[in-house]
Amino acid sequence: MHDQFGRKIDYLRLSVTDRCNLRCRYCMPEEGVVGLSHDDVLRYEELLRVAAASCRLGIRKIRVTGGEPLVRRGIVGFIGQLANLPEKPEITLTTNGIRLAEYAPGLKAAGLSRVNISLDTLKAERFKSLTRREGLEQVLAGITAVEKAGMLPIKINVVPLRNVNADEIADFARLTLEHPWEVRFIEYMPISADLDFAAEDGLPMAEVEASLGAFGALEPLPRAEAAGPARRYRLPGAIGQIGLIPSTSGHFCPECNRLRVMADGRVRGCLFDDHEIDLKQVLRGGGDDQALEALLLAAACGKPEKQQLKNSGKNAPRRRMHGIGG
Ligand code: 5AD
Ligand code: SF4
Repeated sequence: MHDQFGRKIDYLRLSVTDRCNLRCRYCMPEEGVVGLSHDDVLRYEELLRVAAASCRLGIRKIRVTGGEPLVRRGIVGFIGQLANLPEKPEITLTTNGIRLAEYAPGLKAAGLSRVNISLDTLKAERFKSLTRREGLEQVLAGITAVEKAGMLPIKINVVPLRNVNADEIADFARLTLEHPWEVRFIEYMPISADLDFAAEDGLPMAEVEASLGAFGALEPLPRAEAAGPARRYRLPGAIGQIGLIPSTSGHFCPECNRLRVMADGRVRGCLFDDHEIDLKQVLRGGGDDQALEALLLAAACGKPEKQQLKNSGKNAPRRRMHGIGG
């Protein structure tokens, strides 16, 4: 499947819930999160039908996201079903790691290949204030469990924010000296107006890169096939890697290969574009697989050429990140 700008679309991000067991201050407000109703959320059979149709159209990698995907009951079985689709897509997961220690062996057995773990601080107190919940220990145990289960390489997502965790960039980078992990710094995207941080609170990747200079010259790594938007580097002597993701610069739009399906069955072509197509009309209206494929193709065709996000956040999408899945 290709879009109208000739981009090959082979990567699906599938959000299975908008709920989360954390309340990261840059993602959700403390209170007043009106989640999707039980009825709004696609059942696993419906999500599987969407995934199957996507694979028939050429999707070869599916990333399961949330909210926090591991809070949805039955998630391991669902991941097993995804991995067993006829096209044998690669299945990956983005999680906050809270329940990972418990789930890692089952996820591996179900056919999950890799895990991205969101972790913004290595300090317990700070974890508590940033996520408004306890849990650093659990996340660290989760990382160990993923490593033990052999779902490699492990990627750790860090969103650096001024006056919050910017002073930990070196600590996170240092993890790659001793662990074969990819630590990825993701530029903050000011996509919702009701959160605690403004665009200026996010650290531009150029600043992150400059602060990594203290480790010596960064060795640029060749772009892996389907590496996504990360520019990858190695610190001198490191066994792991650093990824820099300049989310708001739009540099990677020409290579964008993704579609996003949200837990309520709407599909969007771009993280920053509110235009969505509702798959539910087909899923619950008795439509056949051909009709479902037609809607997915329409979503791919409707992908904008590049992101429209202005740094003012004015054109930012209505949904918060936990409703889109990043
Ligand atoms: N800007 C950048 N990254 C974000 N994430 C969540 N909200 C934002 C935001 N506003 C990250 C999470 C997770 C990934 C799915 O997206 O930390 O790692
Ligand atoms: Fe939950 Fe992820 Fe949002 Fe944090 S960033 S509240 S872990 S969905």
